[in-house]
Amino acid sequence: MAEFNRDDVQGDLFSRGFPKFNEVYYFFHIRAGKEKEFSQKVKMLVSGEEKHISSINKVLEDWKKVDAAAAKNHATDDPAKKEWVPTSNALIAFSKPGLDRIQTGLTLAGRPSLDLKYLNLSDPTFDMGMGNDGPDNLNDPPVDDWDPLFKTTTIHGLLKVAGSDSKIINDKLEHLKRILGHPQVITDIEGNSPPSLTKSKLEGNTRPGKQHGHEHFGFRDGLSQPLLKGINSDEALKADPYMQTDLNVIIVSSKPPGVQDGVEAFPTRRPHWMVNGSFLAFRKLEQDVPRWIELVNRFKEVGCKSPAHLGAKIMGRWPSGAPVAKFPDEDVPPNTPFNNDFRYKGVSKYNCPFGAHIRKVNPRTDAGSVTMARMIRNGIPYGTDFDPANPPTDPHDTRGLLFAAYQSCLENGFQFVQRSWSNSETFPVSKTGYDAISGQAKDRGLLNITLHNEQDGDLVPGLGQFRESCTMKGGEYFFVPSISALKNTLGCD
Ligand code: HEM
Repeated sequence: MAEFNRDDVQGDLFSRGFPKFNEVYYFFHIRAGKEKEFSQKVKMLVSGEEKHISSINKVLEDWKKVDAAAAKNHATDDPAKKEWVPTSNALIAFSKPGLDRIQTGLTLAGRPSLDLKYLNLSDPTFDMGMGNDGPDNLNDPPVDDWDPLFKTTTIHGLLKVAGSDSKIINDKLEHLKRILGHPQVITDIEGNSPPSLTKSKLEGNTRPGKQHGHEHFGFRDGLSQPLLKGINSDEALKADPYMQTDLNVIIVSSKPPGVQDGVEAFPTRRPHWMVNGSFLAFRKLEQDVPRWIELVNRFKEVGCKSPAHLGAKIMGRWPSGAPVAKFPDEDVPPNTPFNNDFRYKGVSKYNCPFGAHIRKVNPRTDAGSVTMARMIRNGIPYGTDFDPANPPTDPHDTRGLLFAAYQSCLENGFQFVQRSWSNSETFPVSKTGYDAISGQAKDRGLLNITLHNEQDGDLVPGLGQFRESCTMKGGEYFFVPSISALKNTLGCD
């Protein structure tokens, strides 16, 4: 098997991921007794002429068309002349119980073993699953409080389909489900996740109008991503050298998973069929927009000029995405290009507190030489926009982020960042407080963040303790195999 090959790696595993306005996540169960049939269906999924599961090369081709149309559309104000490029791309991934099911089918088919027995050593977090890891290690709510979709039936697999509109992606999803033998071979998960009323399925969409590309608190998302040689363009790599990242931090190589600065945290090698795959941390994160508005409206208590100013300090970026470390006073005017290449060395704590979300989760110079705690984030908002003038009365009318992060080692990537940085009150220095966006305190406790005066002195009590605005409602860890592994190892005749 080739080490790295853009035709072999699934297409969402790089900074831009699938082009999308809409995205659907379909979680499925593989029926007991149908494991061998499932492996045969997996082989069919990736063997024909039609590319049902997208590679990076297929997605890069789509981006060329989308970018060309966007450039033309930019030149006209006439909506009738705007070009729209239909796209749809799909990814398939499996939980550890899903791989166990596939192993059963392969044994029945007389195929070689997947060699899963040492995954508890090479990839213990994946092996235990989010239901075991989250509440114990990440201060997640107990599984009993998760949405029914994540606790009713064991999730074995995930189909993620993204594209230019809801109809295209849902049609494609139904087609993929048929190929995988739904409902005889794979079945739905017996639970839904509001606001979705459909069991087994979650749908996200980019926000309308000027909020396109922004999450529900109003900030542009998906800006700062690991950039990979061999995938990202030379210009992109040159423009943001700090974010240049070794391929094997995101995509599994034949090295052992946890080598950081010569130290082998997890020295056990994975089975070779996992090369060119990646681990996905999927989390449904509900955002309480009124609670967020209430928090930033306390701006005067901490010497900020406006709710937007306090919000920017908590996020570390203004709504446009401009970092407060470089633009401390106000946001840049709309459509002003800015460069994401910056460091925190010498940045005043008044301008950007240590606890700002983007400083916690990517501390740059605050954390010396840590270069493996990186992940590609390709999530999407879900739910309708919150309208303060017309607040929803239905408690299921909720919104948030379908968070999806890919990395070659969960213990170095998502799990480490959530546990050791976002959830730690003392990272990177004592009295930093939590990451007020994605941090979680033990036993669902209150959060805090230290803010500063213009002389960089700590503000006491600052905002004091407050309730979290983002609540984890469920999730799972998945492995995203290479396309050749789907065909030759997980799939069978
Ligand atoms: C609902 C919860 C969350 C919201 C609203 C949110 C929002 C954002 C926004 C607006 C940005 C700035 C744009 C960008 O750099 O792409 C960002 C950056 C980032 N977020 Fe989150 N995020 C959430 C949860 C998480 C979680 C759970 C993690 C991982 C544990 C995470 C990791 C990151 C990382 C690594 C960056 C890039 C920072 C940088 O390089 O500057 N986020 N997030």
